[in-house]
Amino acid sequence: MCGIIGYVGHHDPKGILLDGLKRLEYRGYDSAGIAVLEENKVEVFRSEGRLHRLEEKLGNRRFQGHVGVGHTRWATHGAPTEVNAHPHRVGSITLVHNGIIENYLEHKETLLKLGRKIASDTDTEIVAHLFDIEVSKGQTLHQAVLNVLPKLKGSYAFVILNDKEPNLLIGVRNGAPLLAGIGKDESFVASDVQAILSRTNQIIYLNENQFAVCRREGVEVFEANGKKLSPEVKTIHWTPEQMEKAGYRHYMLKEIHEQSRALTNTIESHIDQAQGKICLAGIDSAKSKLKNIGRVSIVACGTARHAGLVGKDYIERFAHIPVDVDYGSEFRYRDPILAPGTLLLVISQSGETADTLAALREGKNRGVLTLAICNVRDSTIAREADHVLYTNAGPEIGVASTKAFTTQLAMVFMFAVEFGLINKTLSEDAAKSLTSDLLKLPTLVDKALTLESAIETIAQELQHHTFFFYMGRGIHFPISLEGALKLKEISYLHAEGYAAGELKHGPIALIDRNTVIIVLAPKDRETKFDAGGHLASLSQTLHEKTMSNLQEVKSRGGKIWTVGGESEAGTAFDTESDYFTAIPNSTWSLNPILLSIPMQLFAYHVALQRGTDVDKPRNLAKSVTVE
Ligand code: G6P
Repeated sequence: MCGIIGYVGHHDPKGILLDGLKRLEYRGYDSAGIAVLEENKVEVFRSEGRLHRLEEKLGNRRFQGHVGVGHTRWATHGAPTEVNAHPHRVGSITLVHNGIIENYLEHKETLLKLGRKIASDTDTEIVAHLFDIEVSKGQTLHQAVLNVLPKLKGSYAFVILNDKEPNLLIGVRNGAPLLAGIGKDESFVASDVQAILSRTNQIIYLNENQFAVCRREGVEVFEANGKKLSPEVKTIHWTPEQMEKAGYRHYMLKEIHEQSRALTNTIESHIDQAQGKICLAGIDSAKSKLKNIGRVSIVACGTARHAGLVGKDYIERFAHIPVDVDYGSEFRYRDPILAPGTLLLVISQSGETADTLAALREGKNRGVLTLAICNVRDSTIAREADHVLYTNAGPEIGVASTKAFTTQLAMVFMFAVEFGLINKTLSEDAAKSLTSDLLKLPTLVDKALTLESAIETIAQELQHHTFFFYMGRGIHFPISLEGALKLKEISYLHAEGYAAGELKHGPIALIDRNTVIIVLAPKDRETKFDAGGHLASLSQTLHEKTMSNLQEVKSRGGKIWTVGGESEAGTAFDTESDYFTAIPNSTWSLNPILLSIPMQLFAYHVALQRGTDVDKPRNLAKSVTVE
């Protein structure tokens, strides 16, 4: 899931490429490189490690040329060394690549037999050779693309430059994201709109098996079989300022603090406030089909999957429809049962995650109704799903997802309420009351954010422990998974999330004095609705059981940090714990969102204490476009 960018225009490409790569670094950051066409000769600069190493190498160098490509890598084939870094140059071809060429070994053998020298361990260089063979025979780059693509298996996006055709870049998409940007006397190709948004907001999203021929004068798009297309040019409304740190030390911290705004934008754009009603335009045309849905299958990866687990609770409770939640990477390989009457709901911040996208395509092939919850407009998943509901969180840059997660929770909550109304399992009154609770959420999130300095102190005191065990019951269980994931991702500490009641079935064996146990214990009043969808009863059973689980770990010597509601302050949850933090009191259904805030802040401050790279944790990438 590397980041690629190409530029053809009238400026020195160096600054444009480096700026674009900075914004693409979230896709991979183990090596980087750029190539610029200077007077019919391409100069390549590559460096192992982060982008700043490449910048140091380039120093004050200025270029006369106006065409170039750049790459930031997340290694798949070949170690993250300089020789494996992109761009790869073979003959007159320069190529940057994102994705995997599955049949590269087959081609490699043939190339070796032809006497070609292969310098790197990458699959990318093999493709550069295939293009070079074509252009050496006198083919144009355009023709070479038509000849080479049928020979490649895998999922990929390339940007290719041929010395012999200056003022031309070709970007190819087949399984990995790629788009073209149209500027004034300049064109761009990139993995993601963020890379070029400071130069243009006029974007053509390539679909699978399409390629863009980019010249200074404009962009033409073709299908892999050569047919010319008339693509739609979209105007992007995200601003470059939204992608800055705005004075925060890290994007992650900025994004944590942006959550009340992100939630306001997500909630208010989907609620008719005058009527106090949720209005999901994205599913307007699906309402009659939703009436016939008997099962929901949620598929997502990472943090988005945790949002799906909370979503299961909302949908089952409000709409009385059974829900299962799957990993994108598992779903399609177990021949899932997708009977008619199933709704496949995929959740993805980026809308580009390869496994989630493949699950969506599986659902579409099987003919079931598909719905996506996405943050990035016009992303592949958003374009391919039958219906889409957008979280309006704004760009999320930090690799560890924060505001995207809480807005996904708000979105799936609104969907579940709407679905409950459609199914008549929720009365108008109950829906109104849930909606009015939701409208109060951004203020409560702001209040939860004031806990930061207290949480920072707890993080300082606990950061030297080696094992962190998060436990919660019911709707809090997914937040224990998410809390543990946040800590793992950015602090590299061993953390596990568990359903509190499962503790005694194994994991309790791990608990000793070096363990920190994070207990999620706001009152989880179980809401029941009667047959008419009216609120019927409130009970508090799980809360008491969580107390028993807390005692079980306390007696085994673990350090306990309990995160409860304000009403737990001073109770046994507080007095029996080493540390206690109270999130603002809210309704049970919104507690998962409020609980997420201390989980994010704790992970952030532990990581900060430990001196890790919070926004770009090792081995990770924000958008995982390989399977
Ligand atoms: C990567 C990111 C995670 C994210 C997951 C799914 O692993 O590091 O933060 O939750 O992908 O991403 P998506 O864009 O589909 O939500």
